[in-house]
Amino acid sequence: MTNATPYVIIGASLAGAKAAEALRDTGFDGPVVLIGAETELPYERPPLSKAYLQGKAERDVIYVHPRQWYQEAGVDLRLGATVTAIDRAEHQVVLGDGSRLGYGKLLLTTGSSPRRLPVPGADLDGVLYLRSVGDSDRIKAVLGSAASIVVIGAGWIGLEVTAAAREAGVAVTLLEAAELPLLRVLGPEVAQVFAALHRDHGVDLRCGVQVGEITGKDGHVAGVRLADGSVVAADAVIVGVGIAPNTELAAAAGLEIDNGVTVDAALRSSDPDIYAAGDVASAFHPGIGKHIRVEHWANALNQPQAAAKAMAGQQVSYDRVPYFFSDQYDLGMEYSGYVEPGGYDEVVFRGNVPGREFVAFWLGEGGRVLAGMNVNVWDVTDAIQALVRSGRPVDKAALSDPGMPLDAVRHE
Ligand SMILES: Cc1cc2nc3c(=O)[nH]c(=O)nc-3n(C[C@H](O)[C@H](O)[C@H](O)COP(=O)(O)OP(=O)(O)OC[C@H]3O[C@@H](n4cnc5c(N)ncnc54)[C@H](O)[C@@H]3O)c2cc1C
Ligand SMILES: NC(=O)c1ccc[n+]([C@@H]2O[C@H](COP(=O)([O-])OP(=O)(O)OC[C@H]3O[C@@H](n4cnc5c(N)ncnc54)[C@H](O)[C@@H]3O)[C@@H](O)[C@H]2O)c1
Repeated sequence: MTNATPYVIIGASLAGAKAAEALRDTGFDGPVVLIGAETELPYERPPLSKAYLQGKAERDVIYVHPRQWYQEAGVDLRLGATVTAIDRAEHQVVLGDGSRLGYGKLLLTTGSSPRRLPVPGADLDGVLYLRSVGDSDRIKAVLGSAASIVVIGAGWIGLEVTAAAREAGVAVTLLEAAELPLLRVLGPEVAQVFAALHRDHGVDLRCGVQVGEITGKDGHVAGVRLADGSVVAADAVIVGVGIAPNTELAAAAGLEIDNGVTVDAALRSSDPDIYAAGDVASAFHPGIGKHIRVEHWANALNQPQAAAKAMAGQQVSYDRVPYFFSDQYDLGMEYSGYVEPGGYDEVVFRGNVPGREFVAFWLGEGGRVLAGMNVNVWDVTDAIQALVRSGRPVDKAALSDPGMPLDAVRHE
């Protein structure tokens, strides 16, 4: 190893740990410092609302690398350490204890934080959010003791926690401001599949509602009062109303911010020595032709490889098709592609929608495939992504015909 100024990564979760690995894979042999505010080894979050929350997986499943990996790879992992400022002029980061550390190049993988619910009573004991493994442990304890809970927000967190709660035998009232769960991301045609799924599992799903207040007794949550005056009693309230990217450091350092840290297709920010990847990055996507910020696991897994190559001086353009997955009860799904809210012309289904075994395609102008989602149908992701990548109109009759292999669907 050289004595060069280190490459510093701020944020030691999935994107940060993968970036450290990718820097070594590219052959970078200078010092790498990975700084994380959490005290836990870098970990992945998907199990926190699924198998780990349900007690079906041990804690070990969450870690990106075992502890000795960092030592063996020569990665200086500093946990429980928060970066409070970036001094771009001096090429230094400032840590919470006031110390300074020089950087040759800097990568921001600071991720995102849950939005807080701005209503009276939101700070009562028993009002819980889910982002960290500690949050998951607290919710797991609640699911082991509560008779009934209220979940606020029927997005990915709300739906997955609701499924875990129902499987634990807990009664759930699920409150969503929009007219359907996941409406912005899926649109009404597919969002109603998720509404039906949860109602079929005994969830009291109430859409188009406004939370007015969280009520309490002796400092602990007692229920939720809706804007229409109705009250739902609850032993605990779990809130999943979205996240905000952790851009404060980058903004204070004067980097360009627009719904995340603005980066080009090589993940480089408005400062050529500073990069960003994962939930915090709003990256130019060459296939989509605009900047997008993706709040999903696969993006935090794969973007760091591109960022590391760019940091090591290689030409790179991150153009993977966005991808995510979810598991709720006996429904497993994968989604590939990118659609702005309402930004499609029609949805074409193939397979059995009421039986929840189907593929849905969101089509844009001229009938080109913008995104596809397979529900309880497997091994079709590559074919769906090929259709998305082609950017060409497809034969809709073939697309909806389950007898026609997806990779044989004709482009028009
Ligand atoms: C419960 C849960 C379940 C999920 N399930 C799925 C799923 O099934 N499928 C899917 O595709 N996606 C899922 N996601 C989303 C996925 O986990 C995120 O997209 C991913 O965690 C983003 O990784 P990241 O490394 O970019 O950011 P984060 O995971 O947010 O990590 C950022 C890290 O940076 C640290 N940090 C921030 N600021 C500083 C600072 N100034 N100094 C030091 N450290 C700092 C934070 O403490 C944190 O550890 C889930 C998310 C959650 C919370
Ligand atoms: N399977 C997955 O991919 C997965 C699983 C869990 C979490 N995540 C990620 O974690 C992050 C957080 O998830 P999330 O579910 O909190 O966010 P989200 O953006 O997916 O959903 C938030 C939901 O809350 C609703 N909402 C907002 N304000 C409300 C209010 N005051 N009252 C009632 N409803 C309200 C919104 O309409 C939306 O349906 C996201 O980035 C998500 O992608 C992903």
